[in-house]
Amino acid sequence: MLAYPDRLPLAQLPTPLERLPRPGFPLETWFKRDDLTGAALSGNKVRKLEFLFAEARAQGADTVVTCGGEQSNHCRATAVAAAGLGLRSLLLLRTDDPNRPPRTEGNLLLDRLVGAEIRLVSRADYSRRQEIFSEVEAELRSRGQKPYRIVEGGSSALGAFGYIRCVEEMATQLAPGPATIVYAAGSGGTGSGLILGAKLLKLPWRIVGFNVCDDRAYFVRAIGEIVDEAIDRFGLAVSFFRDEIEIIDGYVGLGYAKSRPEELSCLADLARSTGLLLDPVYTGKAFYGLRQELAREPGKFGDRIVFIHTGGIFGLFAKATEFESVL
Ligand SMILES: Cc1ncc(COP(=O)(O)O)c(C=O)c1O
Repeated sequence: MLAYPDRLPLAQLPTPLERLPRPGFPLETWFKRDDLTGAALSGNKVRKLEFLFAEARAQGADTVVTCGGEQSNHCRATAVAAAGLGLRSLLLLRTDDPNRPPRTEGNLLLDRLVGAEIRLVSRADYSRRQEIFSEVEAELRSRGQKPYRIVEGGSSALGAFGYIRCVEEMATQLAPGPATIVYAAGSGGTGSGLILGAKLLKLPWRIVGFNVCDDRAYFVRAIGEIVDEAIDRFGLAVSFFRDEIEIIDGYVGLGYAKSRPEELSCLADLARSTGLLLDPVYTGKAFYGLRQELAREPGKFGDRIVFIHTGGIFGLFAKATEFESVL
């Protein structure tokens, strides 16, 4: 058992590890069902939030403040968890034009249902979000509230423990031996935790991320910074070099949260043949990327693949119209 910082249980754990052979994939292809960490609280963010909310509680916070895109799974999970714990939440949501608010659908519907305070932020303002965080926190303090800041995606040194714990969980579910763990990289917290977990437990696992925004260099830096900070802050006894970070670039497609018909068709194929629902923004793109890479080079990831299904189901509902052309 590894040692962990304080944790507030929020997720339904352990999540199942299901073997699902797919044409063109190794016989041993597994899905780690982190889409089943809960219902409204589903997905990968809940694992990180367990540690972040424990710190918020310890600091006596009554309001959590976080940020993300207008359909952010992370913001939704934060707002739902806050409501469940009797805390308030304020979300800074990036949108094209704050004067033309997005429709209340998908994750945004849930944000509003659980009473999150929403501030729409333009793309330009979002790039200076640290300043906006500070302004909003000052405003909350002037109202007598005690804010706790959660960085984008909950991807911090503390949040990384969510996926360190997931590695420990998978190590009890999977027979010993080499494996390639595949995940979608959005803000780097999941990847950081997976890398650290495999190192701490000395597992012969290769950790491979498919980036769904930005590029490889961005994620090597983002993940590298989180891993370095976690090693420093928590005194983790592992050696780490940034050139060990494996990111496969080339599947961002039309851009973050924008879908191509071939990605949506790939998601629909999997849904039809297995009943498994990926999301269009993260897991759908990573799985499409994995399928393309395997078509090009079948042995690329060895004999055993574990695809981490990091959730995101509510993102499907914001894409209903786009899906119509591929169904
Ligand atoms: C469903 C889903 N999968 C994957 C990711 C990426 O995880 P991370 O932000 O930890 O890189 C996110 C969030 O960004 C997500 O919501």
